[in-house]
Amino acid sequence: MYPRIIINKEKFRHNLRYLLDLCHEKGLSMMAVSKVFCAEHTLIDIMIEENVDYIADSRIENLVGIASVIPKVLLRLPSIGDAKRVVMHSDISLNSEISTIRYLDKYAHELNKNHGVILMIDLGDLREGIFAKTEVIETVRKILKLKHINLKGIGTNLTCYGGIIPTEEIMSQLVDYKNLLENEFNIILDIISGGNSSNIELLIDEKIPEGINNIRLGESVVLGRETAFGNYIDNTYADVFTLEVEIIELKEKPSIPIGTIGMNAFGKVPKFEDKGNILRAIIAVGKQDVDYLELIPYDTVELLGSSSDHIIVDISESLNVYTVGDTILFKLTYSSILSLMTSKYVTKTYE
Ligand SMILES: Cc1ncc(COP(=O)(O)O)c(C=O)c1O
Repeated sequence: MYPRIIINKEKFRHNLRYLLDLCHEKGLSMMAVSKVFCAEHTLIDIMIEENVDYIADSRIENLVGIASVIPKVLLRLPSIGDAKRVVMHSDISLNSEISTIRYLDKYAHELNKNHGVILMIDLGDLREGIFAKTEVIETVRKILKLKHINLKGIGTNLTCYGGIIPTEEIMSQLVDYKNLLENEFNIILDIISGGNSSNIELLIDEKIPEGINNIRLGESVVLGRETAFGNYIDNTYADVFTLEVEIIELKEKPSIPIGTIGMNAFGKVPKFEDKGNILRAIIAVGKQDVDYLELIPYDTVELLGSSSDHIIVDISESLNVYTVGDTILFKLTYSSILSLMTSKYVTKTYE
């Protein structure tokens, strides 16, 4: 059934194993992030078989379905409304709000559990995390009074909202926080979580400061790519995921529409380049599943545009002779994997 996403299990396993070994070699534990593939159980099973240190996801719905002794980590800050489910279905969550942590404590008490918290510190990317040093100290003081919360450590997240590239200097600030908090409160923080796939180059170059002992990796596992500069990582696969879509119409037609151009199906006025008559294929996938600009064709075809359920492809330059019912294959980006895996209209298959 098309459209289908084809997932190569052995390439996935290879990337995961390679990065896990790399982290361990450099003295870091790794949180393997499953959110981009919606925690599909076949890939989760591979994470479990490869014995990752932690399984991490941003959605509690994804963690609910994972049964393993490997600790489960919720990456997105819990909402108060979800606090009970978070305690039930994750071992550790990343947090920055004491009010939410108090709810986690309340439900952990009710459920007779302990819940681990990694306190997030914002080092400049301006997404989640406490920004002011005084607030970090005061929040830790309050957390330490909670009976059912175990302060597992601190963490930061860069290159997400602000695009800030991790450097030794920025990472050292996290180590300074670790030292400050350990001295101030006479505690040991187990986990100092330095970031995501944007830390890979620092990791390879051995520039992660001493004291940081964990990273959380998603994109580098699924795409073999670090995210500070977008470089592919040696010895990893970029084609774990492939999209295959069927042609449902194939006709020679003009390259510009006929008549007065108004708005398209999404309220935008489209622009066209006149290339004369072209061979146009309609493939059965659309905006509801993926942004066509995030698909990279293997063949020499050009993606012209899309509506909810269709993408229009100029196949005039292809050396292949297509007919209706044939399929076109695409390499994927992080965002196209994310949306295609989320779409219920896309079949997930394994090879
Ligand atoms: C807090 C946090 N850490 C780590 C990750 C993983 O990031 P990446 O896919 O760049 O490795 C994400 C996103 O999935 C995240 O939200």
